[in-house]
Formats: sequence, C-alpha cells, structure tokens
Amino acid sequence: MRTDIVHPGADKLRYEIREIVAVAKQVAEAGIPIVWENIGDPVAKGEVPPAWIRKIISDTLKEDLTFGYSPTKGLDETRAYIARERNFEEGIQITPDDILFFNGLGDAISHLYRNLNPHARILGPDPAYPTHSSSEAAHADKPHLTYHLDPENRWRPDLADMEAKLRAHKDIAGILIINPDNPTGFVYPQETIRAVVALAKKYKLFIISDEIYSNLAYEGSGMHKLASVIDGVPGIAMRGISKEFPWPGARCGWIEFYNRDKDKNFDRYAHSIVASKTLEVCSTTLPQRVLPKVMGDARYYPYLAKRTRRYERRAEYAHEILSKIPSIIVHKPQGAFYMTCVFRKGTLKKNQSLSVRNDLKKFIDLRLKGASPDKRFVYYLLASTGICVVPLSSGFNSSLQGFRFLLLEQNDARFKKTIKTIAKGIVDYLAS
Ligand SMILES: Cc1ncc(COP(=O)(O)O)c(C=O)c1O
Repeated sequence: MRTDIVHPGADKLRYEIREIVAVAKQVAEAGIPIVWENIGDPVAKGEVPPAWIRKIISDTLKEDLTFGYSPTKGLDETRAYIARERNFEEGIQITPDDILFFNGLGDAISHLYRNLNPHARILGPDPAYPTHSSSEAAHADKPHLTYHLDPENRWRPDLADMEAKLRAHKDIAGILIINPDNPTGFVYPQETIRAVVALAKKYKLFIISDEIYSNLAYEGSGMHKLASVIDGVPGIAMRGISKEFPWPGARCGWIEFYNRDKDKNFDRYAHSIVASKTLEVCSTTLPQRVLPKVMGDARYYPYLAKRTRRYERRAEYAHEILSKIPSIIVHKPQGAFYMTCVFRKGTLKKNQSLSVRNDLKKFIDLRLKGASPDKRFVYYLLASTGICVVPLSSGFNSSLQGFRFLLLEQNDARFKKTIKTIAKGIVDYLAS
C-alpha cells in the first residue's frame, strides 16, 4: 500500500476467549475431546431458552412488522417498557429517550469507545472483560488504564488505587465497572458503587456500568444497579438479553443514559453515539419486539432465579474443591456464571508442564514462545485434559496470573469431573 491502511490501535484488538478456539480445534483433531470452558454462551453449553420464551418468539415471527426496520433508538414500546421497569426500581428516573438499542452489547461497547475523543480515557477493572479493555486501548492507541480488583480482598475494587490513577492521569474521563463482574463473579456492594460515584463527582467524570449480568446476581448478593446511587453524575448503564433469555445470537443490547442534562459535554457525547447509530439505521427488530412480552411475563423472574440457584450450587462445589489448593486464590462468585483462579506469586515457573503426547507438546510449545506463565498452564491443561479455559493475563488484560472457567455445564457429574480434573491439573503442574 502506498499509504499505511492499518489503524494505529489495530494490534490492541485481542479476544483470547475466542482465539484459543483455533488451538483447541487442533488439539481436538489430534484426538483429544474438548471440554469448552472458554466462551460464556449458555446456549452452547446446552442451556436454551425455555419453551414459553420460544413460543413468544415464534408467535412474534407471525407479525409482519417483525421483518421491518425499527427506529434508530429502538422500538418505542420496548423503550417505554424498559423505562417504566427502571422507574419501578430505586434511584434515577429515565424516559424512553434515554435508551438506545444496539446489535448486542459488543456493538454498544464498540460505539462508546469509537465515539470518545481520542484523548479521553476510560479507567477499567483489572482483570477486564476484553471487549472493553481492547476497544478502549485501540481507541486511545495506548495500553488500557486499570484499577485493581483485589483477589486478596474477595475481588473488591481497590479504591485507593482507583483514586491514585485518577490523580495521575488527567486524561481519564470516565470509570468503567462491570457488575456483576466478568471474569470474577464479584458483585459491587451498594456502598462501593456509591464510593465510585463520589470519585466521579470529585474528579468530574462519567461512569459506565456494564450490567449485562445484573439479573443473574445470586440471591443475597446485595446486587444494586448504578441507577440506584447515580445521584447527579453522568452515567451509562449497559444491559442485554444475551445471557438472560439466554439469546446471544439475537444480538440485542441497550444502553441507558443518566443525567444527560447535568453536563453539556456528556450530552454532546451521548448525541454523537446516537448519531453514529443513526448512520447504521437501527438494531435488530425481532428481539426488541419480543423483549417486553418475555420480561413482562410472570414466569420470567422465577425462571432466572432457578438458573442463578444452579450457578450458585456449581460455584459452591468448585470453591469447595479448588480452595483446598494453597497455591491459588479462588472466591465463590456472587453472580453470573464465571469463576476465576489466581496463582499465588512465585508458584508458576518457566518449565512446569503436564504429561502431554509428544506431537501435541511440540505443537503447543511452538505457540508458547514468549507467552505468559498462565497461558503456558492453560495450553498444557488443554493438551493434557482437553479442558479449554482462558488465561487471565492475556485473556483479561490482567497483571495477575490465573484463568477463568465457566459454571454453565448442565450435567452434574460432568461438571464435577471437570472441576476435579482442573484441580488435579493445577496440583500436578505446580509439582512438576
Ligand atoms: C461483561 C460483558 N459485557 C458485554 C458482553 C457482550 O454481550 P453481547 O454482545 O452478547 O450483548 C459480554 C459477553 O460475554 C460480557 O461478558
């Protein structure tokens, strides 16, 4: 090319959760069956929407308007439903005009960072969900700025670290929280969100709260949305149906703007996001037409409660087994369907391994040149047992060494076997 056509931030776009699939497929071709513990897709793990939700979807397909475009911001009646539901809860009141639909939250995330001034940075958690951290890094063409979620303190955010970063980096314009968190399953206590709001107020920032798992918080977790404490601070909450219905293939999520009227600059930013969505015309119509019928059905919340109880039981079992290993830190999640193990400092060494067939050893060693120690563990676990988890450092932009796995397995015996195999893998690897 006579002119460089590659965006300067292009190398920052990484999504290890899916990148590891190519490696796992090669391992599968070598005859080792794969246990997919990498992608948070309930459907892929056999957890499909119940018959009554599918009936609503198939009935909606009989309506002619389902096949048309929808308004750019989203269907009026769907946004009215969401605004009404939000306003039944504690905290800020919104109108349908404060809601904007996207083709999944992945699309929303991309729009949020793409439309930010390149000099404005968003401070996000470490570990981080990679769509946020990569999009932010690519937007700024700089490494993503993070605050620590502290594994020594049940994954609570280190607020002192957060404030130190806000002081040190004057270009930070916003703080991201993910609640419940992916990959840790941490649920922010309401006073912690309040403290983040206070920091945003003090430093004149806005807040992004990714709440895609908010209806999958476990009973008694103390889940509260940003809306409950946002006060007068500009904010954006993000929601979607991928994990809830679950229907990730529908590509449907939305954002809620809070306090647009409180800051002119924030209002202009919100405007620019709506304008860029307008250029794309609109988001998927079918899931928007279905949404109020499903969420407004008396069966919806009992259905979610049943699912979260199952995730919690899975989490309890995994915690019981894995917490017996002194070299790792592991906490029981309070929401969503992920769990993260952290290797304690100094436990991972260069030449540790698991017993792996010679041809596979060659294959993975070739791909591990210059890789982080946790990636090495993950690849050895994959080649030795077929279990495919995601390394924390490269997969979740983390300064920690560890890995994330899922709580989605439907079959009890299979789940227990996977957890026990992971536990044995850790012990054998560290002892090798
Ligand atoms: C925290 C978080 N946000 C956003 C998304 C994207 O969801 P979707 O694009 O399916 O709506 C995910 C998907 O795993 C997620 O974990």
